[in-house]
Amino acid sequence: MKRSYAHIVRWFSISLDSLCSWPALVIFVTKWAKVAHFSHDTTFGPDRRLCFLIVCRQRPEVLVRRPESHDNRGSVTTLTAYRTENLMTHYRLALLGFGNVGRNLVRLLGEKRAELEASFGLTFTITGIASRRLGWLVNTEGFDLDTALADPRTAAAGNADDLESWLTAAQPDVLFENSSMNPHTGQPALDTCRSALSRGIHVVTANKGPVVHGYHELRQLAAEHGVRFLFEAAVMGGAPIFSLFREALPACNLKRFRGILNSTTNLILTEMENGLSYAAAVKKAQDLGIAETDPSFDVDGWDAAVKVAAIATVLMDVPVKPADVKPVGITGLSQEQIQAARAAGRPYKLVCQAAKDDAGRVSVSVTPQQLEPNDPLSNVNGSDSLAIFETDTLYRLQLSEGGADAYTTAYGPLADLIAISKH
Ligand SMILES: NC(=O)c1ccc[n+]([C@@H]2O[C@H](COP(=O)([O-])OP(=O)(O)OC[C@H]3O[C@@H](n4cnc5c(N)ncnc54)[C@H](OP(=O)(O)O)[C@@H]3O)[C@@H](O)[C@H]2O)c1
Repeated sequence: MKRSYAHIVRWFSISLDSLCSWPALVIFVTKWAKVAHFSHDTTFGPDRRLCFLIVCRQRPEVLVRRPESHDNRGSVTTLTAYRTENLMTHYRLALLGFGNVGRNLVRLLGEKRAELEASFGLTFTITGIASRRLGWLVNTEGFDLDTALADPRTAAAGNADDLESWLTAAQPDVLFENSSMNPHTGQPALDTCRSALSRGIHVVTANKGPVVHGYHELRQLAAEHGVRFLFEAAVMGGAPIFSLFREALPACNLKRFRGILNSTTNLILTEMENGLSYAAAVKKAQDLGIAETDPSFDVDGWDAAVKVAAIATVLMDVPVKPADVKPVGITGLSQEQIQAARAAGRPYKLVCQAAKDDAGRVSVSVTPQQLEPNDPLSNVNGSDSLAIFETDTLYRLQLSEGGADAYTTAYGPLADLIAISKH
């Protein structure tokens, strides 16, 4: 990451002339900055006098102390109209997997570029793009985003031979791993995450495979190398499940959850209730960009099983593998059954569940169920999803997402990038 000074957002405040001398202030600031996770630096203020910059590592805000040169005393001055320096962080980004999610992420990064810079002090260049068909493309000067969206090969400056030489050439600070999911082994994405984290590269993935097959190992590896392993989009796309528990629900323990977590099967069931054939409904999910690369992973329940395993592993802290879920998909349901159930007001839904007992054992399932009309899950239609959490401190907490598509999923990795920039 390259840090550069751009402009100061705020200068603080009240004159402290009378409180301490400049040398005492230097000692105080140095110690306090260390304890309070601030960094400090010196720079020149608008009148060219030396200032003390105190920079919060999480946010690009600064406190400035300005010594009075004539009496060697410190002062703090509010200079609201003055724009000078602020800490910015530049990230080199690499994308492995350039399908629905990868491409929408590039689009979103382009749309949010100015906002990322102004609100989070975050600038970026994309230095690597890779997929099976594209190969290992590199441009250390940064891919032009529009050209990359049209055809990344025309925006590339060179090609690497494999993952390792690609990471060496592109030198990313953050790797976005958005390749196809393998529910049974998590490979090859799992090895990709290992390689990147071992090199001190943050990893952000929408791919549930590495999460369920390597969460504890990858989290440990990330910690050892001082980087993050984040995967907000892995479950419910851009909706903040993992950061909700991580950031907003401290000391809140998940006991049980029920949900509709697979948008593709929910869309297929809704469309089949409305008369569309199974094949046409699958095609509609594919056109929306929400189906797995291999849609049998959706309809056979494996995508939902991996999501249940991810929630149990990460939020209940009990390692669960997709095979433990023994999922039942929706392919056993005929169109007549689906339509009759809806007509009777008790529609079929692919219900995901996990519960942790007092001994710490977790039971998990993914299965089609006919739901009562007053069940909140029975009203979740199309590509919408809903998760209902029961915790030890909040008895029923619901998170729902409407109209999910690959663009909303791409918000997850973007939010993860911002989370990385704040730490
Ligand atoms: N789409 C969604 O709404 C959504 C929601 C949540 C999570 N996810 C997850 O996000 C990931 C990507 O989904 P997607 O919809 O973008 O899939 P996609 O459109 O099928 O794209 C997959 C991409 O991964 C590449 N890829 C696959 N295997 C690879 C390998 N071994 N090495 C290098 N590249 C490889 C493909 O390359 P080629 O095309 O060159 O073969 C393609 O660029 C999946 O893990 C999925 O489970 C997706």
